[in-house]
Amino acid sequence: MRQPALTSTASFQALETHAVEAEDWELRGLFAADPQRFPKLTVDAAGLFLDYSKNRLDGRTLELLVDLAQERGVETQRDAMFSGERINLTERRAVLHTALRAPRGTALVVDGQDVNADVHEVLDRVRLFTDAVRAGTWLGHSGKPITDIVNIGIGGSDLGPKMVCLALRQYAHPRLTMHFVSNVDGHDMDAALGKVNPETTLFIIASKTFTTTETMMNAQTARAWFLQHAPEDALARHFVAVSTNTEAIKTFGIDPANMFPFWDWVGGRYSVWSAIGLSVALAIGFGHFSDLLAGAHAMDQHFQQAPLASNMPVLLALVGFWNRQFLGCSSVSIAPYHQDLNRFPAYLQQLDMESNGKRVTKGGQPVDTPTCPVIWGDCGTNGQHAYFQLLHQGSDVTPIDFIAALRPAHELENHHAALLANCFAQSEAFMRGKTIDEVRIDLQSQGLSLAEIETLAPHKTFPGNRPSNTILMEYLKPYTLGALIALYEHKTFVQGVIWDVNSFDQWGVELGKVLAKKIEAELTGDAQPELHDSSTNGLIAMAKAAV
Ligand code: F6P
Repeated sequence: MRQPALTSTASFQALETHAVEAEDWELRGLFAADPQRFPKLTVDAAGLFLDYSKNRLDGRTLELLVDLAQERGVETQRDAMFSGERINLTERRAVLHTALRAPRGTALVVDGQDVNADVHEVLDRVRLFTDAVRAGTWLGHSGKPITDIVNIGIGGSDLGPKMVCLALRQYAHPRLTMHFVSNVDGHDMDAALGKVNPETTLFIIASKTFTTTETMMNAQTARAWFLQHAPEDALARHFVAVSTNTEAIKTFGIDPANMFPFWDWVGGRYSVWSAIGLSVALAIGFGHFSDLLAGAHAMDQHFQQAPLASNMPVLLALVGFWNRQFLGCSSVSIAPYHQDLNRFPAYLQQLDMESNGKRVTKGGQPVDTPTCPVIWGDCGTNGQHAYFQLLHQGSDVTPIDFIAALRPAHELENHHAALLANCFAQSEAFMRGKTIDEVRIDLQSQGLSLAEIETLAPHKTFPGNRPSNTILMEYLKPYTLGALIALYEHKTFVQGVIWDVNSFDQWGVELGKVLAKKIEAELTGDAQPELHDSSTNGLIAMAKAAV
């Protein structure tokens, strides 16, 4: 059904009027006026705790935002997604990553196909294979157990597995070292091949389509390198593939017994739960991989069942929408205060920006509001000593998602209290700021002259009133990580519904791919200046001259 333009809806217009009233709100004042703000504006789900009280909104704002979610059909569209309707309209596909983490026996038949049975059949194969590799009974061609695993994939076939393997490194098998090669830049593959032994290395070719040029080139290079050290019939012990494209895998020469399939209803950026997570299951074991799925499933159930006003992904999405639309925030910074989550911002970049980085509605009309903000970030406390200056005193307001675990997985003294103190202090500082009068009093107490005080005071003033969320978990463990990823998946979904964009296609990556093919042919063959502008021709000429 075609949605009306967002700005024409009654709930959007009510929010617009409310936003004018809210323009002068100060977070300090909102906290002072309501001692119950923290319990009111926090929510628990699936082992996660979300504090969204440090946002410039109140109960009325939330009511209006929930009205908007209802008017845009968040609940209906959520149910359509879970039930396997083809909500990815431009590719005519269902969107069923949630089915990948549904327990065995969950009824879901789509187009006559028992989706749950298919999913669990592949999971059983993943379990058998990963158990054998981890136990050392799956041997390389010269009879030695596997020691190194090289996952070759890009985008969703790399970012999720790599992020999760790093986040859950505490659970990793001590014999297995994981490597991830994604870039077509040969330096990436060269570095990995320099570290591994062909007798004890397993290559996973991970590609939904099995046509992605980077992955195909890297796979061919790995194969050629391997065959310099081993006979052709050894390939079956060292190359496995994960894909929806069985024909292409056969053509590549991988034993069909070593193929782990998935389905076109799994989007690349939503695929870590599928056999694309093979490297994760190898690293942490199938039991822990199942816990990851269980955490995501718990978040799915919460998303399906909780009322919108207390639904964590819905609230995260609505608060983000408010900041984007009515505070004009064009980027969001992700700040995990956990070193093992250091790939999480990169993972969220694809999840959010490839999903909602769109400018037309599902019906093909221009979206009449700004859409997805830029997602970026790095771990605290490192970011504090790099770009937090801009977040505190720069001219743009950038909302921040702080993410932390209450307990560490290490036993080193003092570190965790220092880490959490920094995390909480930053969100307090963004919220409170420091007024020029507070700065003056500080400087007076340090004995500075009036002239010195007036020179320094503007530089030491913090505007504050800058929004943030804080997400806490007890430990970073498979279950909570699963819930965290699913939280952001559903947040992205809800925002996509509000903007009425198709969050599940990615046509925007195509143009560059097509042009790269043409230019690659020119770099290795004859230049065709009539195809390009003078800049592109000049750059091509320089590259050809350097060969
Ligand atoms: O080019 C973008 C993209 O299609 C992503 O959506 C996807 O995750 C990535 O490329 C890799 O695709 P594949 O798994 O098919 O190799």
